[in-house]
Amino acid sequence: MANPQPTLPVRIARAEQIAADIHRFELRPALAAALPAWTAGSHIGVWSPNGSVRKYSLCNDPAETDRYVIAVKRDPAGRGGSVDLVDNTRPGGMVSITPPHNAFDLAAKAQSFIFIAGGIGITPIMSMMRALNADGRRYKLYYLTRSREHTAFADELDGEDFRGKVMLHHDNGDPHMSCDLWPVLEKPSASHVYCCGPRGMLEAVRDMTGHWSPGNIHFESFIDAGHAAQPTDTPFTVKLARSGIRIEVAPGESILDAMRAHGHDAPSSCESGTCGTCRTTLLEGAADHRDLVLMDDEKDTHIMICVSRARSAEIAIDR
Ligand code: FES
Repeated sequence: MANPQPTLPVRIARAEQIAADIHRFELRPALAAALPAWTAGSHIGVWSPNGSVRKYSLCNDPAETDRYVIAVKRDPAGRGGSVDLVDNTRPGGMVSITPPHNAFDLAAKAQSFIFIAGGIGITPIMSMMRALNADGRRYKLYYLTRSREHTAFADELDGEDFRGKVMLHHDNGDPHMSCDLWPVLEKPSASHVYCCGPRGMLEAVRDMTGHWSPGNIHFESFIDAGHAAQPTDTPFTVKLARSGIRIEVAPGESILDAMRAHGHDAPSSCESGTCGTCRTTLLEGAADHRDLVLMDDEKDTHIMICVSRARSAEIAIDR
């Protein structure tokens, strides 16, 4: 999150483990004021004690103004923010957050929804289902996890509020037992599909929904440039064609972050390659596409500068 953003102090009112490696945090206002309003699908940025900031979806009911609830997967293989937040904070302690931002909002006019969640990807969808329970629109959740023990909100999803609206599938870590979503997605409909989970699941759903109207398919990923970094990544140069300025982009850094570090901003929202806001015309060079937005026939002429990189030593973009 490279943008300077306003921060808000909140108190950790409650923290508890709700599944294997998944911890739920209830955050309350530090000052005697209500929290900023939000809509289903929103996320906040949370600073952990070591100064890392990570995005977490709000998973409570958007109608609640006195608390934000997040669920954090403690990921020892990650960049350290989630482990620090889980291990080094306690109820009663304070953390700083960014106000809610929504890059995964519910289609206002849609009447039915298909939710596909993998692992910790359930979090934004919990808030969406709570909102839909309140306004009466139809939905079905397909929630894919390794086992019951790895399933956040398992008991709640078994409860009355979600009866008949949820299908849980556990693969026990065996790829041969993965859920076949083709029967769900084979026939396009007026439903809107919302998918949040690991990269492989998002790509599988994207491939299975190529015959749907693109506007009906929505993805959320918290894979930012740092998460998407690969050991083979090398530096490259991005030329901003409108000014002729050349900027070096380091491994683990996004084009967008490198531009910002040099005083050039561009519109963005999800910063994970899923919303389409940072779509930029590619004028020269070859892109290494890491987004879930561009269609194959757009990939020679466009690039998502929040996650994608270059395959050539230099690319030129229309900025
Ligand atoms: S900001 Fe959403 S795709 Fe880049």
